[in-house]
Amino acid sequence: MYEAIQIVHSYWAYLVVLIVTLATINALIGFFTKREYAPKDFRISLFALIVTHIQLLIGIVIFFVSPTIMWFKNVPVKDIMGDPLLRLYNVEHPFTMIVVVTLITIGYSKHKKKLTSTPKFKMLAIFYTIAFAAMLYMIPWANWF
Ligand code: HEM
Repeated sequence: MYEAIQIVHSYWAYLVVLIVTLATINALIGFFTKREYAPKDFRISLFALIVTHIQLLIGIVIFFVSPTIMWFKNVPVKDIMGDPLLRLYNVEHPFTMIVVVTLITIGYSKHKKKLTSTPKFKMLAIFYTIAFAAMLYMIPWANWF
């Protein structure tokens, strides 16, 4: 069970990184070139929303089954926080990734409410860029296969 979910979370992360990268670059180009917002822009921002939400759900499941998660094992908080790797998986990674998904959700819903192209791209560019940077920062690159 754990191994299967770990593999899914790990491989799905490639798709998340790819799609969020494309959606962020697309939003920035759209904003800075002031081009017309097209159906393909809607699709790519929606796709980024969907893949990150799916990764959130997989992440929540792995949080409850991973042997690296110490919250359900009576390990003192100071031992979790004192160990960089335990702190990363038990606190920093889950917390930051929830913030990342929240930012993408806010950016997506704010951009939908704007009626013209540049404000739409602006909302996507702001929220997706911050989310993208935080996501890259919090990926455990050294342990990712
Ligand atoms: C955009 C969202 C996310 C991305 C891109 C992402 C990416 C990753 C990557 C690349 C790994 C390393 C996998 C490996 O060792 O091969 C990982 C591990 C992990 N992630 Fe995420 N993650 C995301 C969201 C979450 C969330 C929301 C949670 C929990 C609520 C979570 C919990 C975990 C845990 C517990 C591990 C360690 C699993 C283990 O090796 O036992 N992740 N994540």
